[in-house]
Amino acid sequence: MVNIAVLGYGTVGSGVVEVINTNHKSINKRAGEDINIKYVLDLREFPGDPVQEVLVHDYEIIANDPEVDIVVEVMGGIEPAYTFVKRALEAGKSVCTSNKALVAKHGPELMEIARERDINFLFEASCGGGIPIIRALNSSLTADEIDEITGILNGTTNYMLYKMSTEGCQFDTVLKEAQAKGYAEADPTADVEGYDACRKIAILSSLAYGKFLNYEDIYTEGITKITPEDMEYAKELGMTIKLLATSRKVEDSFYAMVAPFLLGQNSPLFSVNDVFNGVFIHGNVLGDAMFYGSGAGKLPTASAVVADVVDEAKHLHRNIMTNWTSKPLHLMEMNEVKGRFFVRVEGMTVEHVKKVFGDVKIVNLKNLPGEFAFITPCMKQGEYDKKAEELNGSVLTMIRVKD
Ligand code: HSE
Repeated sequence: MVNIAVLGYGTVGSGVVEVINTNHKSINKRAGEDINIKYVLDLREFPGDPVQEVLVHDYEIIANDPEVDIVVEVMGGIEPAYTFVKRALEAGKSVCTSNKALVAKHGPELMEIARERDINFLFEASCGGGIPIIRALNSSLTADEIDEITGILNGTTNYMLYKMSTEGCQFDTVLKEAQAKGYAEADPTADVEGYDACRKIAILSSLAYGKFLNYEDIYTEGITKITPEDMEYAKELGMTIKLLATSRKVEDSFYAMVAPFLLGQNSPLFSVNDVFNGVFIHGNVLGDAMFYGSGAGKLPTASAVVADVVDEAKHLHRNIMTNWTSKPLHLMEMNEVKGRFFVRVEGMTVEHVKKVFGDVKIVNLKNLPGEFAFITPCMKQGEYDKKAEELNGSVLTMIRVKD
């Protein structure tokens, strides 16, 4: 028997208990052991819920119980999660977590402790909800030099953008819906400002490139400035707006960013709608690969957490996480990053725009007189910024275009 302790009985924690109870036969078969939930830690009481039988309020009980083999951290946030996880690993217990903030900040240190003790610190559920993307990077795509990861990595914002563009819903209304459905973070600022996607691309990039990408170094923009008018322009262009998290190798350098992008129909991420996530990966021998699935929510996330429990039960005294070192991954300056830019301007002439930007594609919407939009040729961000200054304050919006 393998004993586990679940830290936190919120959305994901209750999902983990539900998944283990629902699929216990097949899970035990795959793990080759009986998975037993010995403890669930939470400060609250849950009257009428069978979890009461294993509920504890004091982490010391778990930390000091030598029978606990695996700790499942699904509390979220840095503290006390970091202290609890570190103690568990130091006590020789494997840990799995859905906590992207914890992995992005302390991943290298926690993985090193696990490596030294020949146990595991796994975090499949930290990125892409139920999509098995961490396992793919860690143990499947090992023949490749990966040179691009571009993903829709936040279910909440993808759901919001989808509802805003297809049903014309208001930002605040759809955010409340996403919260009610259990997609959003406790503080949804992390979703709408792009911080959640930023931590996820930091984790995926660190695994793919074998160095530590500090999430604080990643240029991050959220979706709060996207307007219904921007969406109308996107439709007119046959495109859509998505919050993308991307990292890319350009010659010997890397760049990474999180920002809303205009996507064309040729992009494999174009049809990733609703709460779904999609991760596009390019490898030098593989070529293109796409991973797609439920990106947030109780059961998809719990499915990924329990898959880690199974893996850890199968490898109780053998470390399986490899390609992430604490050596820092340095990024190029954002000014040097090349791309095309969608720009909305008011009180401006097409002639002047063409004089400044050269050969642009112009878009007009009949219902928005007094303004128009254009898409620039490919140029460096720094070059765009300089040219935009020559438009004398007439820029309403700038959104990057994903080619
Ligand atoms: N708030 C996150 C999202 C949860 O919406 O993607 C899953 O990590």
